[in-house]
Amino acid sequence: MDGRILILDFGSQYTMLIARRVREQSVYSEIHPYNVGTEFVREFAPAGIILSGGPASVYDADAPRISREVLELGVPVLGICYGMQLIADLLGGKVGRSQDREYGVARIRGQWGSPLFLGIEEFRHDMEIPVWMSHADRIDKLPKGFSSIAQSVNSPVAAMSNPEGTVFGVQFHPEVVHTPRGTEILSNFLFRVCDLSPDWTMHSFIESSVKKIREKTGSGEVVLGLSGGVDSSVAAVLLHKAIGDRLTCIFVDNGLLRAGEAEEVVRTFRDAIGLKLDFVDASRRFLKALAGVADPERKRKIIGKLFVRVFEEEARKIPGVGFLAQGTLYPDVIESVSFKGPSAVIKSHHNVGGLPERMRLKLVEPLRELFKDEVRELGRELGVPAHVLERQPFPGPGLAVRIIGPVTEERLRILREADVIVDEEIRGAGLYDSIWQSFAVLLPIKTVGVMGDFRTYENVAAIRAVHSHDGMTADWVRLPYDVLQRISTRIINEVKGINRVVYDISSKPPGTIEWE
Ligand code: XMP
Repeated sequence: MDGRILILDFGSQYTMLIARRVREQSVYSEIHPYNVGTEFVREFAPAGIILSGGPASVYDADAPRISREVLELGVPVLGICYGMQLIADLLGGKVGRSQDREYGVARIRGQWGSPLFLGIEEFRHDMEIPVWMSHADRIDKLPKGFSSIAQSVNSPVAAMSNPEGTVFGVQFHPEVVHTPRGTEILSNFLFRVCDLSPDWTMHSFIESSVKKIREKTGSGEVVLGLSGGVDSSVAAVLLHKAIGDRLTCIFVDNGLLRAGEAEEVVRTFRDAIGLKLDFVDASRRFLKALAGVADPERKRKIIGKLFVRVFEEEARKIPGVGFLAQGTLYPDVIESVSFKGPSAVIKSHHNVGGLPERMRLKLVEPLRELFKDEVRELGRELGVPAHVLERQPFPGPGLAVRIIGPVTEERLRILREADVIVDEEIRGAGLYDSIWQSFAVLLPIKTVGVMGDFRTYENVAAIRAVHSHDGMTADWVRLPYDVLQRISTRIINEVKGINRVVYDISSKPPGTIEWE
C-alpha cells in the first residue's frame, strides 16, 4: 500500500460514505475526528486529505476547526461542503449565510480544464451536471489566489481551487449517489491530484494483515468466539492463515440455534477449512437457566451472561492463551472514535465484556479497518464458502427471542421445524439473497382450527421478512402471495403444533425486526 487518504470528520452524516467511495477505487482511507491535531496528520503521512461536511457554520464561535498548518503541509486537500467553507475561512476568504439555501439536486457548470473535472465532457460544452447540495452557507469571498471552478444558480462558488491545483473545495457532495458524476470527481482527486495508484486490494490487505497478526501475537495463543456469522467466520479464517493452530475457535451451542446449524459449523470450519475448533455443547445449561423465564430482557441477560461464563471456562483451558480475537468492523470503530462522541462499541454477540481484563487478554481485531461488504470480499478471497458469506444475520440470543414467552424443548422443536420451511421456501423462490432477514416466530397463543374432521387447538406462527441496509431501519417484504401460501400450507401440514400462520407487516421503526 503506497499511499492513503486521511478523512477528517466534521460530523457529516456522509463521512463514512466518503471513506467507502475512496476504498471502492482501491485506495485505502481512514476517518479520524477533525481534532486529532496537526502532528497526527503529519505522522499519518497521507497522500491526500479530505475534509468532510458537517452541520456547523464556520462563523459560529464553537465551530470545529483545524490548524491552517494542515493546509500547508504540501499534501493535496479536498474540502467537501463545510470542509470547503473551512478552507476558505482559514485562508482568508469569507463565508456567509446564503439567501437561498440549497437542499437537494442542483445543477452546476464547471471549468473545463480543471484536474478535478477531467473527463466531465459536459463542461467542455458549457453544459450542466446535477449534483447534491445540502447547505445554508456559501462562500462570499474566495481566499487570495483561489478561483471559482464551478457555479450553480445559488452558489457562485460551487467549487474552488488554488492556482497550484493542490487545494480544492466543492460545495456539493460527490460521495452520494445523487451526484452521478461524483465518483469521477473523487477519482480525479485521488489519481490526478494526489497521484495515487489503485493498489489497495483484498490481496494486499491479506498480505499486510497476516504480517501484522504475526507481529502482534508473536508465539502467543489466540482464542476466538466463532458464531458462524460472517464477521467471526472471516476473522477466524484470516487468523488461521496467519498463525495456524495457535488459533483456537470456541463455538458455543446454546441450544437456541436453528436446525442443523451446529453440525454445519463443525462441518465447514473444522472438517473443510481445518480450524482448531472447540465445540461446546452447552444447550442443557442454557435451557435450564431460561426455564420459566418470559421477560425478553431477562432472557437476553441470562443468555449473554451464561455465554461469557461458558466461553471463559473454555478459554481458560487453553495453555498460554494471551489474545482474544474479535470480528469488530470499521463502523463499530468509527462509532466509538468519531467526533459525534463515543457510543455503543461492540455488538452484543461479540461482546464478551470484561473477559479481556479478567483473563489479561490482549485484543486482536483484524477486521477493524473493513466495512461489511469488504469483509465479504475478503472472505471470498480467503475461500470462505459462499453460504457463510451470504448468510442472513442471526441474533446472538437465537431462537429465544423468536419464541415469545418461556423457552422449552418442545417450543424449540416447533419453531425449528417452521423455520426450516420458511428458509426452504424463501430460497426456493430465489429470494434469500435479496432479503435482509426472513424467519418464523412462535406466538404464545393458541387458536382453534379444523383439520380433516377434527377440531384443533394449537399454536400460531408469525412469519417475518424484512428489507434493510443495516438493521437500523427495515421495511416488511412484499412477499408474493404464492410464496406466502406455500409457507403457510406447509407449516400447518408439516409442523405438529401449529395450526395458523400470520404475516407480520410492521416496519421498523416503530416495530423492531426481532419480536423480543
Ligand atoms: P431489532 O430486533 O433490534 O434487530 O430490530 C436489529 C438487528 O439486530 C439483530 N439482533 C441481534 N443481533 N445479538 C445480535 O447479535 C442480539 O442480541 C440481537 N438482537 C437483535 C436482529 O436479528 C436484526 O438483524
